[in-house]
Amino acid sequence: MVTIKSAREIQLMREAGKILGETHNRLKELIEPGITTGELDRKGAEIIRSYGCIPSFLNYDGYPASICTSVNDEVVHGIPSKKRVLHEGDIISIDAGVIWHGYQSDAARTWAVGRISPEAEKLIEVTKQSFYEGIKYAVAGNHLNDICGHIQDYAESFGYGVVRDLVGHGIGTQMHEDPEIPNFRMNRKGILLKPGMTFAIEPMINMGRADVVWSEDEWTVVTDDGSLSAHYENTVLITDGEPEIMSLV
Ligand code: MF3
Ligand code: CO
Repeated sequence: MVTIKSAREIQLMREAGKILGETHNRLKELIEPGITTGELDRKGAEIIRSYGCIPSFLNYDGYPASICTSVNDEVVHGIPSKKRVLHEGDIISIDAGVIWHGYQSDAARTWAVGRISPEAEKLIEVTKQSFYEGIKYAVAGNHLNDICGHIQDYAESFGYGVVRDLVGHGIGTQMHEDPEIPNFRMNRKGILLKPGMTFAIEPMINMGRADVVWSEDEWTVVTDDGSLSAHYENTVLITDGEPEIMSLV
């Protein structure tokens, strides 16, 4: 069931989103060659808790950390580790979620570690832009597939692979609510978009093929062909007009 949030719920999700956006901006400042993903997790948890929020990922389905840190060919759900040192030229996707007075926000960014290749820069930029291409259609009266299809078209126009095995989702009191939001065209229109719906829209884009595999740790998803992957996600509110990007500050 896809829920319509009340004004009060929307306000709490706005506050959660603002905190999460600020958390991402503060984590970005820490990214440099030599830092470990374990240290980013420690800092992420500290920042989230400093706002009075709970890191929603911690213990979710047994997930062992507060944020996900996915490096290079890791697509999503990379588990932070004090042994994983970032090097110049790496790219890192940080995914995080917070709970604020019972309401959730979920967002991800991909960052460069020091100087990176122009190809990697472009992947990060196109992944981010594919989110924006999608939410141009996140307008009441459109259908869900309008968002999905435009994310896909944009990313594929660069020859990139759009990940099929993981999708975005509705969000609210739960991190994962209905509907599922693929980053590729469905064989149906999908639900009619209405004001008050809240979605986590999250393109995961590979420089090479779309196929992904799960690692030994049972969490980390990596590209099958070893190509780089980027992730960009925000919590978005459908309104009477333009969509509101709740997790961006
Ligand atoms: N943003 C992700 C998602 O939407 C991350 C959740 S994975 C977790 O599914 F297990 F770490 F929570
Ligand atoms: Co998500």
